[in-house]
Amino acid sequence: MSDSRISADGGMETSYGFREVPTGEKQGLVNEVFHKVAKRYDIMNDVMSMGMHRVWKDAMTGALNPRKEPGYKVLDVAGGTGDIAFRIVEASNRQAHATVLDINGSMLGVGAERAEKKGLSENLTFVEANAEDLPFEANSFDAYTIAFGIRNVPRIEVALSEAYRVLKRGGRLLVLEFSEVELPVLDKIYDAWSFNAIPKFGKAITGDAEPYQYLVESIRKFPNQENFAAMIRMAGFSRVTYTNYTAGIAALHSGWKL
Ligand SMILES: C[S@@+](CC[C@H](N)C(=O)[O-])C[C@H]1O[C@@H](n2cnc3c(N)ncnc32)[C@H](O)[C@@H]1O
Repeated sequence: MSDSRISADGGMETSYGFREVPTGEKQGLVNEVFHKVAKRYDIMNDVMSMGMHRVWKDAMTGALNPRKEPGYKVLDVAGGTGDIAFRIVEASNRQAHATVLDINGSMLGVGAERAEKKGLSENLTFVEANAEDLPFEANSFDAYTIAFGIRNVPRIEVALSEAYRVLKRGGRLLVLEFSEVELPVLDKIYDAWSFNAIPKFGKAITGDAEPYQYLVESIRKFPNQENFAAMIRMAGFSRVTYTNYTAGIAALHSGWKL
């Protein structure tokens, strides 16, 4: 079920879009993508998803329904420019504290600027670190969220076991990710949009199509709803469920550390 496998020469390989690369090389390639797109990341999200990412992120926040009391602690991994953390803090009536963790300083830099403008800095901490090796003690957080991030992580099973470790007993995992489209006509339209339009928009807006080619390819390589749910169970989570958004273009997976 893992995305990593043994190559012909005996090393570990994983997918970087449609290419197979040594597992140790993927993170560097992913980091280049997000360094390049950081400044235009938010506008490109609106273009690529025709604004739908906002609806999915709102739905994720609604599903979490954060407690409206101080002391509620959320870790938003691969938090990038802060979209999920901002929503959670607002949904808690500015009571919750969110740690935005990302491996990429360029993405976090944009996030910190946005937080300042929104007057949310007091409720947020920005941490540059790897989802595979979280710099937190066990049993630290009430919730762990990750949106459109986990497919970029080279060893997904390691990130999931780290999520399990840092959550408190009774804590909640929520993963929002692109998934498998379950409507026969929509999947053809979605394919055409993804592989033709998105890299072209990427080039027009950011001057470079390649990062967007990677992003659309990586969506196709990510495990489907059932297979990803099985990976979450393997990491130790209980009551694992998922909800499709827009016929499975995205899916929200949920699990509990019980
Ligand atoms: C598509 S963005 C998602 C950002 C944000 N969660 C959102 O929904 O808008 C993916 C993020 O994953 C981050 N990322 C990739 N690999 C990571 C890793 N191993 N650990 C932490 N973050 C990582 C990237 O730097 C990037 O900011």
